[in-house]
Amino acid sequence: MNDKYDRDINYLRVSITDRCNLRCKYCLPKEGISLIGHDDILRYEEILKVIRVTVGLGIRKIRLTGGEPLVRKGLIEFIGEVNAIDGINDISLTTNGILLEAYAEKLFNAGIKRINISLDSLDESKYADITRGGNLQAVLRGIETVNRVGFSPIKINTVVIKGFNENEILDFAGMSLEKPYQIRFIELMPMGGRNRNNQYLSNDLVMSEIQKVYDLESLNGKRTKTDGPARIYKIKGGRGELGFISPVSHHFCFSCNRLRLTADGQLRACLLSDDEVDLKESLRAGCSEDELARIIKSAIINKPISHNLNTIDEEYHQKKCVREMSTIGG
Ligand code: GTP
Ligand code: 5AD
Ligand code: SF4
Repeated sequence: MNDKYDRDINYLRVSITDRCNLRCKYCLPKEGISLIGHDDILRYEEILKVIRVTVGLGIRKIRLTGGEPLVRKGLIEFIGEVNAIDGINDISLTTNGILLEAYAEKLFNAGIKRINISLDSLDESKYADITRGGNLQAVLRGIETVNRVGFSPIKINTVVIKGFNENEILDFAGMSLEKPYQIRFIELMPMGGRNRNNQYLSNDLVMSEIQKVYDLESLNGKRTKTDGPARIYKIKGGRGELGFISPVSHHFCFSCNRLRLTADGQLRACLLSDDEVDLKESLRAGCSEDELARIIKSAIINKPISHNLNTIDEEYHQKKCVREMSTIGG
């Protein structure tokens, strides 16, 4: 269905857990993690009920996220059940890749054909630093495995962080020459109530660094209506693609097609607005699918026109989103 700004809401991102096997510095709070209690995480059958209802309202694309989705038990069976819901034409997954080598084939057979993998450094010790202990080689093996198993497209998400990986921009871009991957450069967003201005780098700068060395060709004319927010390019002659996700410098809210379900059952109409609708409470009070549909419709109607990151509050601070990314799933 369309929201009040006539955006067709057809994409639901479902965070199935806030647990993660990494501790990325920009994603989790410094003080450590306050995990959502076990009973407060939606059960799979509750998530399936929400998905069925949203499909009735026009959702066609589902992305499973986390935390790290591969750490939740029973995921493969759950994917099979999502896949059996009529009306969904795309199920995908965003993962940190650590467990991918082991899961790739099972995921593929369960019905996931496209996958996005987070990877912020190609240097072993820098990767271990930003993830607080992650093993780069495991992720690289995971990426090779999904490629071999036949996933397509394979998208690599790289959050560009000033003073950390800006010197790797060309290495990442260069990966798309040989490999059939879409390498996506993502602007760092201020999540978890923390400002990031000193670590933020605009994608305009990233792109101009790449263009000093490579000729880029725009592929934006080929977008479909359920596509995500990346602006897509290709290095001339390369096998893969480059994507630029620029929520801060060039927000894409006018074409936003998504809703998000958090691991604890809150429906967020906008990633960067802390307005949420508590679906868990309704689910646990035994609401019918019709009642759930009415609640979700109203959240869609009230979806904000855009985020307000670029506005300043009464105390001259940049607006930011309070919830941690790890419980929303990106
Ligand atoms: P595709 O459907 O494959 O294009 O996926 P996607 O880009 O929607 O999903 P992914 O999980 O790979 O997200 C990549 C990055 O884009 C993450 O950092 C997200 O937080 C960011 N992102 C995705 N959707 C939105 C959005 O609606 N608003 C904002 N501000 N950022 C988004
Ligand atoms: N800004 C931008 N992207 C982020 N991600 C996590 N936190 C942030 C942030 N503050 C990315 C992860 C992952 C995706 C789901 O979201 O790197 O690729
Ligand atoms: Fe959609 Fe909010 Fe992201 Fe804008 S910031 S694109 S409205 S989710």
